Amino acid sequence: MKLFEAIEKRRSVRDFEKTDILINDLKRIVDAGRVAPSGSNIQPREFIIITDSEKLRKLSKAQDTVTEVSAAIAVVCDPEESDWWVEDMAASVENMLLATVALGYDSVWIEGTLLDVEDWAKDVLDVPEDKRLVTILPIGKAASEGTRARKKPLDEVTHYNRYGNKSE
Ligand SMILES: Cc1cc2nc3c(=O)[nH]c(=O)nc-3n(C[C@H](O)[C@H](O)[C@H](O)COP(=O)(O)O)c2cc1C
Repeated sequence: MKLFEAIEKRRSVRDFEKTDILINDLKRIVDAGRVAPSGSNIQPREFIIITDSEKLRKLSKAQDTVTEVSAAIAVVCDPEESDWWVEDMAASVENMLLATVALGYDSVWIEGTLLDVEDWAKDVLDVPEDKRLVTILPIGKAASEGTRARKKPLDEVTHYNRYGNKSE
């Protein structure tokens, strides 16, 4: 799939039909996250591929969605390693979301609902205390077409040469 097609096709999916995911596909998705840019190339992020159904069940405490898939990827960051760890994590996550779509799967960026139960989730995955577990990406296939989130129009968010100038 072409890059712009994947960008346009990507949407947050929260209802999945259960499908098996090839381990090689999961590794390719993580690899897309691995090569994302990071401040000073410090790369303060690591990834956990989760296929253990009991762990997935437990992680559904963050969001029910996680029980519907047979695999998920968690992103672990070290805040001590870099001042830009949040941005570095986000760059990896977006790369992985696009790779997921390119391989024919769907996902959703679970972070907001994970924060409240982060310590619990770290325990489930044996993440060291000094690291952060900030995002989980369930990987699966959408159960339905679903709706697309409304995006602000290009004209509304684009300025030319100075803020406020709308003519090219
Ligand atoms: C930092 C961040 C945190 C998010 N956390 C959650 C979350 O915890 N649960 C969830 O269902 N979606 C979460 N999302 C997905 C957004 O709700 C979603 O991207 C937004 O509504 C736009 O929809 P779209 O992804 O389909 O374009 C998060 C997205 C971002 C960027």
